[in-house]
Amino acid sequence: MRYKNNNYFFENISLDKLAIKYSTPLYCYSYNKLKSNIVNFFTYFKKFSPLVCFAIKSNTNLNLIREIKNFGLGADVVSKGELMLALKAGINKKKIVFSGVGKTESELKFAIEKKILLINSESESEIKIIEKIAKKKNVVVNIGIRLNPNTDANTLKQISTGKKENKFGVDEKTFLKLVSVLRTSKNIKLKCLSVHIGSQITDHKPYEKMLKAVDKIINKAKFNFEYIDLGGGMGISYEKNQKKLDYKKYKSAIEKFLRKNNSKLIFEPGRSIIGNTAILISRVIYLKETSKKIFVILDAGMNDMMRPALYGAKHQILPAFKNKKKSQKSYEFVGPICETTDKFLSVSNFNKLKERDLIFISDVGAYGSSLSSNYNIRPKPSEILINKSKITILKKRQKLEDII
Ligand code: LLP
Repeated sequence: MRYKNNNYFFENISLDKLAIKYSTPLYCYSYNKLKSNIVNFFTYFKKFSPLVCFAIKSNTNLNLIREIKNFGLGADVVSKGELMLALKAGINKKKIVFSGVGKTESELKFAIEKKILLINSESESEIKIIEKIAKKKNVVVNIGIRLNPNTDANTLKQISTGKKENKFGVDEKTFLKLVSVLRTSKNIKLKCLSVHIGSQITDHKPYEKMLKAVDKIINKAKFNFEYIDLGGGMGISYEKNQKKLDYKKYKSAIEKFLRKNNSKLIFEPGRSIIGNTAILISRVIYLKETSKKIFVILDAGMNDMMRPALYGAKHQILPAFKNKKKSQKSYEFVGPICETTDKFLSVSNFNKLKERDLIFISDVGAYGSSLSSNYNIRPKPSEILINKSKITILKKRQKLEDII
């Protein structure tokens, strides 16, 4: 992904060619970036031979999940729909874990019938329902319990999950109680302790704290967990010079933890696998100048990519063609949706743009298309995968007839 003679190339293809052929807005994924992210992830944690379960919620494209499966990953799912999707993509059921605070009885039944690796349970009431289903079916169900370690992930508060005020997991007291109750359960086999403290974490210290909390509770519980599921959350660089997670330090904290606890590791990464693999190409519909700034009205809106509107998340925007002229006034990149929060970014000193020019929004692979909607009755964009010069259509643009 780079400029060649001021023209941006995604793998070996220029953005204008893609925009003409597939129209805009357009999600483009890089196969080679995906591959290198996965290879790097396995390299960082090679020593532990972990089971890596891709967090399906971060990207729900069936064809992309198939590619991810081909690299040997399993799946972390949070609904019956995601579980069906993972199975349809060919992910081995023994590599699937099911998380979530509100799994319904019918979702739990489905997961039990599919004999997935683990149901990571998040409440006493849920465990009772699992036990009821298992008894009725006369089977033994393997579960994990998600601990809420009351650890600050030091990330956006909207995507923090490991503090006691968050709805996720169970507190220490409940955890210990459940461990002791489940020791004698005939239909539930407790196999795993799971944690996930939040997303877009760029500081290793919260992970260190989380591991300390986990270690402490295992000592108290005096229980030998076959698996420790450390969740995901590894952050990526959305902005230049943004702090990067120090994987070495995270790894050595895990090493320290494993010296005392002999368990198999599971990770549930989403963003770190898929986040930086994609861009969203968009065309400028209109430029609207005001006294202070120029609104750059794009054909992509918050329905196509809602992270900025939902979390105030920042994604870099760059022009498909660079020129030598700069805009005098700052640009505010907005979409066509009837919402004030339908705004992507404000930038000063941007390359001067004209109507119909192309730009792209960076790092939209995670929680981009998976959070998209048909708000304002707008069809969801096409998604394509590029491997050098080869293009595969991952999903066709929705037709208005399909959504009306
Ligand atoms: N495991 C569990 C139990 C999770 O809840 C999540 C994310 C993950 C794994 C994957 O986390 P990752 O490695 O992708 O950080 N929509 C937000 C992010 C929400 C994350 C929800 N849970 C965003 O756009 O930033």
